[in-house]
Amino acid sequence: MSETVLVTGGAGYIGSHTALALIAAGHKVVVIDNFVNSKPDALVEVSEMTGHEIVIVEGDARDPKLVEHVLVDNDVNAVIHMAALKAVGESVEMPLEYYGNNLETAISTLGAMRNAGVWRFVFSSSATVYGDPESNPIPEGAGIGATNPYGMTKEMIEVIVRDLAASDDRWKITALRYFNPVGAHESGRISEAPVGKPNNLMPMIMEVATGKRDKVMVFGDDWPTPDGTGVRDYIHIMDLVEGHVAAVEHLENQSGYDVFNLGQGKGVSVLELIRAVEQATGKTIPYEVTTRRTGDIAECVADPTKANEVLGWRTTRSIDQASTDAWNSQQS
Ligand code: NAD
Ligand code: WQD
Repeated sequence: MSETVLVTGGAGYIGSHTALALIAAGHKVVVIDNFVNSKPDALVEVSEMTGHEIVIVEGDARDPKLVEHVLVDNDVNAVIHMAALKAVGESVEMPLEYYGNNLETAISTLGAMRNAGVWRFVFSSSATVYGDPESNPIPEGAGIGATNPYGMTKEMIEVIVRDLAASDDRWKITALRYFNPVGAHESGRISEAPVGKPNNLMPMIMEVATGKRDKVMVFGDDWPTPDGTGVRDYIHIMDLVEGHVAAVEHLENQSGYDVFNLGQGKGVSVLELIRAVEQATGKTIPYEVTTRRTGDIAECVADPTKANEVLGWRTTRSIDQASTDAWNSQQS
């Protein structure tokens, strides 16, 4: 069945790729974004690539009246809520802005949905809610305990939506805990384009590959991992966004609240990712090992079994593919 899906924060890195995957699966897309960390360009590109219009509303998801109008005017059936600030370090410096923006966008959007009678909600959560996990791979039932204000906003919103779903059985709510999304759509026409200095490893490696920076600073090689550098579960952005399509389509058969990991289930170290990009680009990526980054953890790898079994979704793209696609998107 074709759904009309509102993606809040849909102009960003994950949102623009999600729009593409939703349209490819036959759904209609409406976006609200205030462009605090994006531009409308990627969505314009997605419209051109697919030949389908995307309704783009420039506005703040903290404004419940605006969100309600957008839901009603466009006959929206489901919402994917991505509008958030996402830089961990900045969240430590500016906790009020992070709690304010991230909690208010969620609460306003949910309130607007209740007023408009729209009950299906997919929330962009994060593996950051697991904090420093006791063991890897991490199943959804593992203990949670975010270690910074950004992560706490994800943890708190998960609690809010769980309580909301328990209060009224019309709600169907899914939280998706993303591991580390990387890469770009195979066409290279849309990309991860962070505003300012990149915080995450792949955009940093790309800036070195394009010559914008001299070297990657590797945050520690004394971690208890096979090569001493941090291990993460890097998931191709197209695999991640296809997980959203599966989650939206599954909501119809779901009752109440559920939570899924979206990851590959495979750990990759910092040096392995650098090597994958070297292979994909044919370039040497200079790096220098420096001290550990405050708040970092050794390893964070998903157990994606639940999403595989319940959503019928699995990853199909490798880290090599993600490196090639990330590079292509930088070239164009
Ligand atoms: P992004 O910054 O590219 O996209 C977020 C979008 O939200 C931006 O376009 C921004 O302009 C918009 N936005 C922020 N506040 C808003 C507001 N008040 N009103 C309207 N729009 C607003 O980030 P992304 O990487 O695409 O992340 C999307 C979602 O996924 C976020 O909720 C993020 O926390 C979550 N997430 C991201 C990662 C990751 O590594 N990229 C991992 C786990 C979870
Ligand atoms: C990956 C690895 C670093 C940069 C963060 C957030 C998390 C989620 C995803 C949103 C680590 C190392 C990094 C660099 C390096 N976001 N690294 N040099 O830390 O797993 O997760 O982004 O929800 O909440 O915390 O991702 O890409 O920053 O780091 O050596 O310049 O790369 O130490 O081992 P992380 P990352």
